[in-house]
Order: sequence, then structure tokens, then C-alpha cells
Amino acid sequence: MSIVIDEKKRLFTLHTKNTTYQMKADSLGTLLHVYYGKRTDDSDKSYAICMRGRGFSGNPYEMGRDHKEYSLDVLPQEYSCYGTGDYRISALKVQNGDGSMAAALRFKEYYVSKGKYAIPNLPAVYAKESEADTLEVILEDPSSKVEVHLLYGILEENDIITRAVKIINRGKDRIVLQKAASMNLDWINGDYEWTTFYGGHVTERNVQKSELDHGIHSIGSVRGTSSHHYNPFVIVSDKNTDEEKGGCYGFSFLYSGEFLMEAEKDQVDQTRLICGIHPDNFAWNLQPGEEFDTPEVMMTYSGEGFGILSRNLHKTIRKNICRGEWKEKRRPVLINNWEATYFNFTGEQLVAIAKNAAELGVELFVLDDGWFGKRDDDNSGLGDWFPNEKKLGCTLKELAEKIVECGMRFGLWFEPECISEDSDLYREHPDWAVAIPGRTPNLSRNQLILDFSREDVQDYIIGRLSDIFAETPISYIKWDFNRSICDKYSMALDGLSQGEFAHRYVLGLYRVLEALTGKFPHILFEGCSGGGGRFDAGMLYYTPQIWCSDNTDAIARLKIQYGTSFGYPVSTMGSHVSAVPNHQTRRTTPFSTRGCAAMAGTFGYELDVTKLSEEEKAKVRQQIDRFKEYYDLIQYGEYYRLQAPSDKQCTIWEMADPEGGEALVSAVYHHVEANAAPVIVKVQGLKAEAYYQLHLNMEDIADLPEHAREWFTGQLPYGYKDGEKITGAALQQCGLVIPDALQEFQAWQIHIALCNEE
Ligand code: DGJ
Repeated sequence: MSIVIDEKKRLFTLHTKNTTYQMKADSLGTLLHVYYGKRTDDSDKSYAICMRGRGFSGNPYEMGRDHKEYSLDVLPQEYSCYGTGDYRISALKVQNGDGSMAAALRFKEYYVSKGKYAIPNLPAVYAKESEADTLEVILEDPSSKVEVHLLYGILEENDIITRAVKIINRGKDRIVLQKAASMNLDWINGDYEWTTFYGGHVTERNVQKSELDHGIHSIGSVRGTSSHHYNPFVIVSDKNTDEEKGGCYGFSFLYSGEFLMEAEKDQVDQTRLICGIHPDNFAWNLQPGEEFDTPEVMMTYSGEGFGILSRNLHKTIRKNICRGEWKEKRRPVLINNWEATYFNFTGEQLVAIAKNAAELGVELFVLDDGWFGKRDDDNSGLGDWFPNEKKLGCTLKELAEKIVECGMRFGLWFEPECISEDSDLYREHPDWAVAIPGRTPNLSRNQLILDFSREDVQDYIIGRLSDIFAETPISYIKWDFNRSICDKYSMALDGLSQGEFAHRYVLGLYRVLEALTGKFPHILFEGCSGGGGRFDAGMLYYTPQIWCSDNTDAIARLKIQYGTSFGYPVSTMGSHVSAVPNHQTRRTTPFSTRGCAAMAGTFGYELDVTKLSEEEKAKVRQQIDRFKEYYDLIQYGEYYRLQAPSDKQCTIWEMADPEGGEALVSAVYHHVEANAAPVIVKVQGLKAEAYYQLHLNMEDIADLPEHAREWFTGQLPYGYKDGEKITGAALQQCGLVIPDALQEFQAWQIHIALCNEE
């Protein structure tokens, strides 16, 4: 059992394979946070909490006059409260029936159970009963009778601890939750940095490391979605932590709405981290007897750098968050018509693209925006989920059948959460659009939001989409959402409940996704919000992959996918080969480079294959063959960031078989230099004593003239010629020499295979 409890001391110790977490209820009943970090024994470590009187840090009345050293303002706690003597950022802010803003929580009882708890109507990590344990610690505010259940899920093998909170109003009055965070973590010492992932549309998840010095630091979203702008994932680390060394903690929020992740270093150099729903648009009414469930945070700790931290999260997202038939099944190589045609297509053109693509080995055709209602640009049509048969030249079913006849599966784009003013749906239900009465709403991409907090709207969307899914041979859905939410207001909520809108919206979204994915388990859902505007672990519970960014430029993608890889596995990152010059950056990169970057994701194409030369078509075939050959390695291998996009002249990453049987190293040069320094990287995850052979994908330089290729082959570093073998230890310690760049944006994929002879 991963949970050890000392009843007498009221001491709770949670162990995973490599980490330990400890908390203790003290004499007053405050649940103190004691320790989280490298695995230790079960002994009580609360001796390290040094209590000293601190001026202006008050003392709970119950402690009497002789205990000036006891103050909630400096004690490390499991779940801090606003209003009763802790002046730091806090996890819980309750407005009581009498209007006061105060809560003071005391330990009441606990429960231990086998298996992992679930959260009603919200995504959560799940596990087999034998693979997880749950600890539930119940705290109570003796005055208001508000009960707080702290939930801890322990996935021992994964080095993961999850946290969520249930709040129950056991009092007699209505209360309002002004803030109900999912977790609070207090470090009693240490100087930390945190890594956050900021960005915008077409430039998501840039890595930023900054010092957690005195004061409050925060990232979050008030955009209705988790957003392009800050990802709901942070890493808190010791200074100078890198990929392989240093202590670091990862916190991933399983939530697709507004969030706040904040940290404060206090007067005595302690650091507190709080993650949860953003309180700005949140005021939740709880009538007597009612409960509120917070979303979940997944935490992991690595004592040896960011690499392990990411791999712990990758594994857990793949196995314990993603669900459904497509979780383990090989996902099809797809082609999407968006960048090939935008809104401007006919049914015939689509079939031509599908037919050509099928001949090249593509397995799924995705029809993007523009197939429904009056939708030839982004001014109209959203909400009218009825095929535009005039434009398609046939029914949607017939079109899908034609595509299936080409030997392809058929997929379809939707943006169910939006509505155009120029749509029949809006004309019929203007009150279904989100807007504040008496104010004009903001338009964004000329569209409004459909009020997903309303059950009638949710039911309508479930019904309409179900009908289309049922009557058309659909294998894949792209679920898009192309704006942020503001003017938050629901006609279905009374004035006092508008503070519930933003969270109810997310609950509505989850309800619709749960219903549709449950009813149509064979459909592969891909999430999208103008690319990666809702790339979060909550969404991955419903859609096992998410379109990573609307930026399809291979070089820009290196940075976006690098940032994304800290918190999310390759199997979740939608990534396509697109045309050049690239539509977002105007950059021209080699075909092989675009293939290499897209293979660090779910892999597909987004260009008009009917316009490709025979030579390019041959490359598509080769890329697809290569992707299929390395599929398991790419999607399920251990991921290593060997060189960051900001480092030197090239970005390098590796996927390695967990048993050390093979590895794939990918390197992309950002620029070529004369007299350049050699690029040598230490390969990871191999068996030290075994021999390996390198295979360089020479098709990547097929464009070069014969003599240049011959010359290059002659210059290849040791290990790249037939018969040359290198030990795992040498590749790991001495390194792998990456061949030089022969052209701007050169990409190399180097397959490293185990061979037993010397
Ligand atoms: C934004 C998406 O990210 C694109 O891939 C495309 O589907 C467009 N929306 C369509 O409007």
C-alpha cells in the first residue's frame, strides 16, 4: 500500500516508487504539509517546521496566549483559507451566510481506499484498482460547518499523485465559494524557479523560466478556455535544474477553462503554490447540503531533471488520462484540406485530393471548415450543422462514401461551441448566444459563443451531431473553437448565479464530449482551438490528440512542440506536413524537414496533393512508410529532449524503446554555418554494454546531385557506414555525431538499432 498512516500522530505518508509526500494534523487540527520530494522513510518530518513568533502574524484564539509561535500565516498547510489569519495567497475563500469572508479548517477524519477516486462530471486520472490508492482527508470549519474533502490519488508506479477537493455545505445557510482551488503546496524552504509556457495564436507554449522570488507570481486564463497564452501546466524546480539533474515538480491541471496558477514566496522564505479555477469569474452558490467538486491537478516529482518529469507525465497522460478505442490503436495518417483549399472547394476537388492521397498511403481524409450551412468565409454559418449539398455536389453521406471508396476513412470538422449572427440557429435562438443584456458583445473572427452552460443547448448539439455521426460513415472529428470568451453571461442563470457561468460552460462542454465519445466510440476525436488554444490534460480525457498549433511551419513547430513536450506526449500533438512557402511564416523548408517535424506528433498532411510533383509524391510515400515503421517508437517510446531550439544550430530530440532495443534521433538545423562546430549529442536510454548500428535516412538528401551525395557519403562520421557498430555506452557517454547540414533547415532522422554481434 502506498499510504502509511500513523493514527496516533495523525501523520499521513504517501509513497510512490521514487517520491514521498507527507502531511500531519497538528494539535489544533490544522492539516500541515510536511514534505514532498525524493522517496524517504515514513518517519515524522514535521520537526523541520520551525515555529517562531512573527510580528503581525496573528495566533488562533484556541491556542491561548502562550503560543505566539503558532500562526497560520507561516505554517505550511495542505489547504489554506482566506480570512482567518493566513495573509498569503490562499486556496479557499468562502462567503458565509452572514456575509463574512472566512473559513478555518480543522481535521475531522479520513478514509483510505483501493483504486483511484473519480470526480463527477470532470476529467480525472483513472487507473486499475490494483494500480492506485486513494486517501481522502476531511476537514471542517467548526463555525460554518463547511466540509472540505481533500482527495489524493497515488499512482505508485507512475510517480504521480493527484489532488482534487470536494466542498460540502453542511451548514444551514447558503454560502458562496469565491475561490476553491484544487491544491495548495507549501515548501518550508528552498529557492525555486518556475517554468511556465506562454504564447499566443500560432506561437504556443514558449518556455520561460523565472525565479520565484519574494512576492506573488502567477499565470492563468480568463478567456473561457485554458488558452494559447498560458498553458495550465507549470514546473517548480531547484535552481539550475536541467534535463538530467536537479529536483523539479510538475503540476498539470486537468481543466479546459479559466485557471490560475500562483506562487508566493513569503516573509520567512517559504514558497506556496496554488492551482485551480480562476477566481475572477467564479462565485459558486452552495445551498445547504450541496457539494462542489474542483477539477484535478496531477503532480509529479523528479530528483533528476526535467526529462524524467516529462516522461512521468507522458506515460500517465497516455495510459491514465486518454481513453477509448483510439488510446492504444494505431492512429491513421491523415490529410486535412484546410490549407489546401480553405473555404474554397467543391466536392469533386475534395474527392480528387482524397484519391491522390490514398494512392500515396494516406489513410484518413478530413474535411475541414466550410462544408455546412452558408459558410464560404468566416462571416456566417456557424451553428447550422447541415451539409451544404450544393457546394459538395452531393449529400455528405455520398461524399463520405466516395472517399471511403478511395480506400480512405472520412473525418469532419466542427466548431460546435460557436454561432454566427448570420445563421438560422441564431435567428431561431438569439438567447443561445453569450452576451450581456443591454451591451453589445465582442465579435471575434466575426462569431459569437454558443452558451454551453445551458442544458438545452448541450442537448441540441448532442442531438444534431449524433444525427450526422449516425448517418455518415465518419471515423474522425476535429472539434475546433476559434475565439476566447468574454461578455460572460447566460440567459438561463439568474443574476446571483452569473459567477457560475464560466465553470458551468466547461462542465457543459465536458458533458457534450462525454455523451458523443461514449455514443460513438469508434470515432477518433481531435481537439483544436485555433490550434493549441485548449491544449490541456482535461481535453485529453475526451480527445486523445489535439491540433498543436495553426502554425504549420516546420521550424516554428520545433519550438512549439519542444515547449509542449514538457507536459504532453508526442501521441497527443497533432502535426502535419504543409506546403511551402509556409502559409504562416512564408518560410520554405525541405520536404524531409517538414516530415521530420510532423513525425514528432500524430503525423499527417495539410496540402493539395494533387499539385505535388512525382518526386514529392515519392517522398510522401517514403515518409508514410517510415512513420509506420517507427510508429511504436514515436508514439510510445521514451521521449528525450537532447538539444533545445534555443541552443546552438539545431534542435535534437530522441524517442527510445523503453527496453533499449532501438532509438530514433531527429535533428533539424535552424541555419547553416561555414566552418561550423560539430554537433555531438549524448544518446539516452540505450543498453550500455550492447552494440548498435546507425541508419541514416539518405532519402533526406535525395534532391542533391549524385556527385554531392557521393561526396557526402564519403564524409559521414564513424558509425554511419554499413557494418560499423558502436556500443550503447559510447553513444551515451561519448555521443552521436550528427552529420553536417547540407542545406538550410536540413533534417536528419537517425535510427539506432540493437545488434548483438561485436
Ligand atoms: C482553426 C483551426 O486550427 C484550423 O486548422 C482550421 O480548422 C480553421 N480553424 C478552420 O476555420
